[in-house]
Amino acid sequence: MNILILGSGGREHALGWKIKQSPKLKKLFFAPGNPGTSELGLNLPVDITSFESVKKEVLENEIDLMVVGPEVPLVEGIHDYFANDIDLQHVQVIGPKKSGAQLEGSKDFAKDFMKRHGIPTAAYLTVTPENLDEGLSFLEKLQPPYVLKADGLAAGKGVLIVGSLAEAQQSLKEMLGGMFGEASRKVVIEEFLTGVEVSVFVLTDGKDYLLLPEAKDYKRIGEGDTGLNTGGMGAISPVPFAGKAFLKKVEETIIQPTIQGIREDNLEYTGFIFFGLMNCNGEPKVIEYNVRMGDPETEAVILRIKSDLLELLEAAAEGTLKEKTIEIDEQSAVTVMLVSGGYPGDFEKGKVISGYDQVAGSLLFHAGTKLEFGKLKTNGGRVIAVSSTGATFHEALKKSYQNAALIEYEKKYFRTDLGFDL
Ligand code: AMP
Ligand code: GLY
Repeated sequence: MNILILGSGGREHALGWKIKQSPKLKKLFFAPGNPGTSELGLNLPVDITSFESVKKEVLENEIDLMVVGPEVPLVEGIHDYFANDIDLQHVQVIGPKKSGAQLEGSKDFAKDFMKRHGIPTAAYLTVTPENLDEGLSFLEKLQPPYVLKADGLAAGKGVLIVGSLAEAQQSLKEMLGGMFGEASRKVVIEEFLTGVEVSVFVLTDGKDYLLLPEAKDYKRIGEGDTGLNTGGMGAISPVPFAGKAFLKKVEETIIQPTIQGIREDNLEYTGFIFFGLMNCNGEPKVIEYNVRMGDPETEAVILRIKSDLLELLEAAAEGTLKEKTIEIDEQSAVTVMLVSGGYPGDFEKGKVISGYDQVAGSLLFHAGTKLEFGKLKTNGGRVIAVSSTGATFHEALKKSYQNAALIEYEKKYFRTDLGFDL
């Protein structure tokens, strides 16, 4: 099969690395990809928000199956575009259609879905300018801190957690006034959940699912989980506190009702579901759905999948996942993200990267790099994910940290305390 992976980050590099190992693969393409993915396949210089440009490349390169990495093209309906185009109908797409992608594209939609299907989640109220007064009094009934979420996609920045009632009421008004543009013209106010977060992933054909390895990601920039939120500073899998009993609860109270809800509501869903969960004293609750794999969780989780991923993706697209099983490696896998100094605030790009050819015993997945005149340079906040396996996560982390130290660029930063809380 000829495969196209849409996206340009560490997640896409890791998915490509895994798919590359499949005997079913003929040719591998990335759009737009990065210098790391160019070593696995051919990078196509395409703006993936232009579905027409994607179509041109898909037809030219005789793509059989396309994996959509990030959420934006899914929420904008790239799968529907393929299904409705006579020339593209035969191409299998991993990623839900627009109806299913609303689980990530609209927090209000996701909360309403969970409520109707009895899936445990934080209490909430959706507020628009029409029911602002109701929103202000709902806040009064909650305990601090207060959680306010832009309804639509806001590049991971649309969630505010504020300490005082006055501040929460003020933020609510500002969000509705356009703090996050159109995305916050509707706001979801949520009860604050206390607990530890864990990410759980499934691959589904809309009827059945396979459970992938779970992970814990480290979102804050600073050691000890302090400072600003980032796209993710690293991840660890498996998660020691998410044992068999907890994961069984997750499957029975969250995953199965979600898949059944997708079926009952006729949401068109083929692809990954990422359940962002809070473990509240042993009781899992959903914080959010994502309609794709996580980044950087993928860069750890993928190392634990022993089965042929391409075979599973094909089965998901064909609706025959029921016949498949997935084999998971017992070992631990981790990823440590090297970032640019200053990230997630302002940072400089274009720093020359060296030492990566010295790395041994870890895999490097490129997140934000570019090649200029044969030199590898930084090209984003998150630069390179250093992934390793080991009998324990401590062992795996040791390898990643040894190799992270070998990679050099000006103002390199990474967290050295991953797993401190486990
Ligand atoms: P989200 O974009 O929905 O993943 O939210 C970003 C982060 O905010 C999450 O990863 C949590 O750490 C935190 N968060 C979101 N919702 C809640 C909640 N109801 N209670 C506590 N923390 C939350
Ligand atoms: N690591 C969180 C995300 O991919 O959204």
